[in-house]
Amino acid sequence: MTEELTGKVALVTGAARGQGRSHAINLATAGADVILIDRCQDYPTVGYAMATRADLEITAKEVTGLGRRVVTAVADVRDLGAMRAVVDNGVGKLGRLDIVVANAGIFAFGKDSSVDIDTERWDDVLSTNVTGVFNTVKVTVPHIRNGGNGGSITITSSTAGMRGLLAMADYAASKHAVVGIMRTFANELAADRIRVNTVHPTGVSTEMIDSQAFADWFDANPQMSVNLAGNLLPVDKLAPQDISDAVVWLSSDAAKYVTGVTLPIDAGFTVRA
Ligand SMILES: NC(=O)c1ccc[n+]([C@@H]2O[C@H](COP(=O)([O-])OP(=O)(O)OC[C@H]3O[C@@H](n4cnc5c(N)ncnc54)[C@H](O)[C@@H]3O)[C@@H](O)[C@H]2O)c1
Repeated sequence: MTEELTGKVALVTGAARGQGRSHAINLATAGADVILIDRCQDYPTVGYAMATRADLEITAKEVTGLGRRVVTAVADVRDLGAMRAVVDNGVGKLGRLDIVVANAGIFAFGKDSSVDIDTERWDDVLSTNVTGVFNTVKVTVPHIRNGGNGGSITITSSTAGMRGLLAMADYAASKHAVVGIMRTFANELAADRIRVNTVHPTGVSTEMIDSQAFADWFDANPQMSVNLAGNLLPVDKLAPQDISDAVVWLSSDAAKYVTGVTLPIDAGFTVRA
């Protein structure tokens, strides 16, 4: 096992389960102590359940089981004041901040067409996936800067940050928007040796796309299958580990000159002819 992140502190949002949990465990395996943040509360506009406090505790136990320190916080990435408080507290306890993975995100479904998306759903998706990422960057950058050691910020976008999705204009807009956040901060933070990149996964086997509600919507609307079908490589869905491998690499010195990059981890989905 390599421990290239030993002595570093990482922060992961949406850490209670799915890709966020996997990122936390992999960053800890690579040697980092970890601050874990999750909302742990459902949305009326989203057809699948969010993670629970018990899920967040499982992630924390996995990290401490690897011999790393952990600080856990229930907070909504949309709430700037709450985010500032939990990040300040976590960095105070662990002593520094080097790595940020802005991973928390939602998607909503159930309409036949994007023109039917209602304002409440639009606001939830954009506020979580865009404002939440901005808030995460905004409150973490001062701590990374204070360390004077440079750092890495990885934002989870999607293949939907590179192409459209049927009946999901809100999600596609949000995942394109974080590329703008990434490109801007890559410019602003380079002098401090803080790198900023986005990862763009194709379908990943997590509750987001494995829920019964999503399967039912797909079954009832077979035309939506283009949203997920189309990996060039012979794989149906990726595993969270596949994304974590890229996140750990981007967070490490092996990627010390990689910034401003939109990295697809998509089995060829976005270049399909
Ligand atoms: N699963 C996929 O197929 C897929 C593909 C491409 C990109 N993504 C993106 O990957 C990221 C991780 O999703 P996942 O697949 O692990 O799904 P997931 O639903 O299992 O995990 C998302 C986590 O974010 C948390 N969360 C939601 N809103 C939050 C908020 N406002 N504040 C804090 N935490 C919040 C949830 O509780 C959950 O633990 C998301 O940004 C998603 O858009 C997912």
